[in-house]
Formats: sequence, structure tokens, C-alpha cells
Amino acid sequence: MMDMTPFSLRTATPVALRVHEEKPSISIVGLGYVGAVSTACLSSLGHKVIGVDLDQTKITQIGAGLSPIHEEGLGDLLSQGVSEGLVTTTDDLTQAVRATDVTFVSVGTPTAADGGCDYSYIEAAARSIGMGIARKRTFHTIVMRCSIPPGTTMKIMTPIIERVSGKELGNGFGVVFNPEFLREGVAVEDFHAPPKTVIGATCERSANIVARIYDPVDQSPIITSIETAEMVKYVDNVWHATKVTFANEVGRLCKPLGVDSHEVMDVFVQDTKLNLSPYYLKPGFAYGGSCLPKEVRAVAHIADGLGLDLPLIQNLGRSNDSHIAEAITMVRMTGAKRVGVLGLAFKPGTDDLRESPILEVIAALRAEGVEVAIHDPAITPDTPLEGQLAYVQHGSPGLRALAPELPALLRARVEDVTEGADALIVTQRNRTYTDAALSADCEVIDLVRMTPERPARDGYNGIGW
Ligand SMILES: NC(=O)c1ccc[n+]([C@@H]2O[C@H](COP(=O)([O-])OP(=O)(O)OC[C@H]3O[C@@H](n4cnc5c(N)ncnc54)[C@H](O)[C@@H]3O)[C@@H](O)[C@H]2O)c1
Repeated sequence: MMDMTPFSLRTATPVALRVHEEKPSISIVGLGYVGAVSTACLSSLGHKVIGVDLDQTKITQIGAGLSPIHEEGLGDLLSQGVSEGLVTTTDDLTQAVRATDVTFVSVGTPTAADGGCDYSYIEAAARSIGMGIARKRTFHTIVMRCSIPPGTTMKIMTPIIERVSGKELGNGFGVVFNPEFLREGVAVEDFHAPPKTVIGATCERSANIVARIYDPVDQSPIITSIETAEMVKYVDNVWHATKVTFANEVGRLCKPLGVDSHEVMDVFVQDTKLNLSPYYLKPGFAYGGSCLPKEVRAVAHIADGLGLDLPLIQNLGRSNDSHIAEAITMVRMTGAKRVGVLGLAFKPGTDDLRESPILEVIAALRAEGVEVAIHDPAITPDTPLEGQLAYVQHGSPGLRALAPELPALLRARVEDVTEGADALIVTQRNRTYTDAALSADCEVIDLVRMTPERPARDGYNGIGW
């Protein structure tokens, strides 16, 4: 993927920072849960904070050092901030922007009538911020904290600020997206020991200003593009929801079988190599092989037999099939009549063809009359495949048709596959295949992301990236 940070800081790179002698003053617009916690916690780090809201009750409460919500430790920090003269409140956002160096935006983003995101509060706040910046001579940094669809900060908020202020992004003001990950109930504790600090920015200056603010609680913020930071917030929450749903489905499965689900999950979580780890978490090709498809089916079958409704587990196969369908569509879109396949086994370092998902892609292409040539480091035209083809033959109708002709599609050399191909599909990552894919004079469909950055050339297409 192209690096969208147009400056020298890099994703996941710890930023060495020197804490400013003088801390930037901060205005916070939107004193709901996020804004109230930010007001209290940022003042506890020594910043002057002006809290801004339209709701007079919140303005009065926070201005008096009282917490508007029930949250452990929040009232103490607010009352401390007010008594130290660090926390004040107002309903005048434009004036608050003029009086501060940085503005955190935490207005609501409710669901709109059409099910999407209601941007009206962001738009209103952006107009007031723009008016404030128009009258400022010093650089102002806006820190977006709302959970919003990727693109909102740059396509909705920033253009309004530019239009109203008459200033360009980077010239007079900077914009950062800094998602909020604090858990309600322990938000103050999480603020001081955050799970991570993500700063999406378009310029180094703004990124550094925000990184300095967080320096007392996190010296290694993750600097990335604004769009990545926006998406991370959504993906994190979808992941948390997936974990909750998965654990609950395991519970509903275990109970009628007389198995203690808590004991099962106690064992499950102790595996930090495969279960709770980055493993299996990068978008790539469909799962396959001799275990995953079979065992997912087995569990779904047990659930069916018990009359259980486990939508997550029972639909894993459907999701995997749609990923295979996506690969087939990608090849079809090239219009290729001759397709080369690099990698046939379901994973490198094996000659195991059982439920290798690329077989379904090949079967679909062959059914449409596409010529296919295949290379695999562990499977040559001389490799005895009879035993394996018996498995393939018991698969889908497409695989039954493919099995008898499969050996004839195998080639001994990579060049025998790449030469004359209109499109190449790469399913395994190794040096030879990377070289072949990068130098190929045809469309490439990369199912494994051969290189960390997407090759900058036309006709190179990754699945899910
Ligand atoms: N609540 C959470 O745990 C949480 C966690 C992470 C992210 N978020 C996101 O942070 C954002 C804020 O969430 P929240 O729960 O604090 O929202 P909230 O609805 O509780 O509070 C939003 C506040 O913004 C004020 N507001 C709206 N427009 C304004 C304007 N133009 N000027 C001044 N004040 C204005 C409202 O009066 C309200 O007090 C949302 O995008 C949310 O998705 C929330």
C-alpha cells in the first residue's frame, strides 16, 4: 500500500520527543463522554483546557469541577483542574479556538436517517473552528477524535475549515486524526496507560504537536495517515465485537455438550503464538488445507444437530467462499485468456492440495475456457498426485471436473507459466515468485502481498489491498 504520510515519521515508529517547556493550550469541543474525559485528563497533564459545548448544563457542571457522567476518578480530576485554574468552559467555540493552540473535536456522530453517519455536528463545529482560525496569526492544530467513516476528516471537515478560514491546510492550521480507545468505566486509568496512541496526520508539524501532548503517557505513538487512523478505530471496535460474539458462540456451543466454556477459553487464551497474536490477521487469500475447512464444517454441523444458532461460526465457510469468488472476479476483470498460477498447494512448504482454495479459482477459469498453466515449488509434473486427486474429486462440481486434467496443467519451470500469460495469479510468497510477478509483462493478481509496498505499476492488483 502506498504510504500516505507525506513526511518522515513512519507507521509504528516510536517518536523521540522532548517535552515542551510550555504546554500548548487546548480547546475541546463536545463535552460528552470523550470530551469530558479529555478535558479532565489533559488538564491533569498541565494543559490549560477550554471545554466547549452547546449544552448549558454540561458547561456549568464541568466549569464548576463536577463530572457530568459517572466515571471513576473523573470528578476528582475536573475539580482539581478547575481549582488550579486550568479548566474553564464556554459555548463560544470560535473564541475558544482563538484563545488556544490546539482544538480537540469530540462532538457526537450519531447514526443518520439513512443508517450512515450524521455529519451535521462535525460540519457545524468545523465552521466555528474556521471562523476562529481566520482571526488567528499563529498556527492552529485541530485534533479530530470522533469515530467517523474513513475520509471524513479530509473530505468533510478540512474543506469547511479551509473555506471559512480562508487558509490552506498546512499553512495556518494542521489537522490530525487521533482515535479514542478508552474503555468507559476505566477511562481515566486507560488515559494514563493507553493501549496505544494513534496519530493520523498530513504534516510532521501537527503530528509532533500532538505527540508532545501525549508524551507523558505514551512515548511511542503510532504515526500514520489520517485515513488509516480513521479506519483503525472502526476495525478495533469491529474486532472487539467479533471477540465478544465468538466467545459467546463458543459458550452456546459448549453448554449443551456439557463442556465448561470458561475452561475452554482459559486454555484458548494461553496460546499467544497462534490464537492471541498477529498470526492469521493480515488480509490475504481464503483459508484452506486439511484442517480449517473441515473443522469449521464439523463445528457448524454439531451446532446444526443441537439446533443452535451460531451465525458467526456457521457463516465462516460462506465468508471464505465469497473471498474465493472475489479472486475469480479479479481474474475475470482482466479478460485474460491465458492465466499463469504460481503456487498450487494451500500453503508454502507443502505439496498438500486438500481444499487448496486456488483450485476453485482454477476450476472456475477452466470452466470458462481459460487456459491455465501452474507452477508450484513442491509439485512438479512428475509428482504422483493420485492420492491427492481422490480428495480433489470429492470436492465441489468444479473440482470434480478439474481433477482429471490437473496434472497436465503443471509446469516444471516458472518461465513456462509466465511466458505468454495474459494474467498471473500468485498464491505463495517466495523470492522467485516475487521476481516473476514484479517483472511480469501482464496483469498480476497478488493474493499474498509479495512486497510490503504495493508495486507502483498498472495492472498489479492485490486482494483486499
Ligand atoms: N463514548 C465513547 O466511549 C466513545 C469512544 C470513542 C469514540 N467516541 C466517539 O467520540 C465522539 C463523541 O462521543 P461522545 O460519546 O462523547 O458523544 P456525546 O454525544 O456524549 O457528546 C457530544 C457532545 O457534543 C456536543 N456538541 C455537538 N455539536 C456541538 C457544537 N457544534 N459545538 C459544541 N458542542 C457540540 C453535544 O452537546 C454533546 O454534549 C463520537 O464520534 C463517538 O463515536 C466515543
